[in-house]
Amino acid sequence: MQYCTAVLLAAGSGSRFDASRTKQTYSLLGKSVLRRSAEVLAACPLVDALVIVVREDETAFSRGELADLKKPYKIVVGGKTRQESAAIGFQNIPAESTEVIIHDAARCLITENGVKEVVCAVRKYGAASAVTAVHDTVKTLSDEGMIVSTRDRSRLCLAATPQGFSVPLYRRALAGAPAVTDDNMLVEHLGEKIYPVYVFENPKITTPEDMLYAEFLLRKRGEGNV
Ligand code: CTP
Ligand code: MG
Repeated sequence: MQYCTAVLLAAGSGSRFDASRTKQTYSLLGKSVLRRSAEVLAACPLVDALVIVVREDETAFSRGELADLKKPYKIVVGGKTRQESAAIGFQNIPAESTEVIIHDAARCLITENGVKEVVCAVRKYGAASAVTAVHDTVKTLSDEGMIVSTRDRSRLCLAATPQGFSVPLYRRALAGAPAVTDDNMLVEHLGEKIYPVYVFENPKITTPEDMLYAEFLLRKRGEGNV
């Protein structure tokens, strides 16, 4: 029996966003970033359960926001880095989980279909990641910081989330893990390949300006007063 658990990472401090409040607590068209991300994951028929990783000082807020989530879920307190929070989330997935998908709460515009495509690809390839295409011409810099060459754009993509793995693969990847900035890197380190799932309009909220873009995208999808 296949059982997919989504680990939602919402334990960050949002230092590039707002010094007084974290981005996951902000409301976008009347619904918090945290709640939006959790609802999309819970709505996906291929997701069986959620582990939501939050800041200790936002436990009460998170409980309130997630009270009526439509799937079994657990709230746990995260760590100092994203990597620590992902490891804590993984330690708390239900024992019957066969796949895990890890998602940044800050990417609250992911669609149910995007989540579904990642889970399907994990079931087929063992590892999959939401990505976006690179539209710019990407340059390599020399040791002195001068542009010296151009990368082949057809061989590049930008990593997004969700990133998903079979549970045995992710467990192996976590053992002896180097410091990384996403979960794909843990699996790349093992020499394993990850299937790229191209997902559109799935920005990560990093700065306050990103909220304006997120709101624009939500209105384009028919939310709020267009
Ligand atoms: N995250 C986490 N635990 C941490 C750090 C980050 O769960 N210790 C989560 C964030 O809540 C976010 C995701 O990882 O959903 C991606 O991180 P990022 O966008 O960098 O968010 P923050 O770390 O909160 O922001 P900043 O780097 O600007 O401080
Ligand atoms: Mg961060």
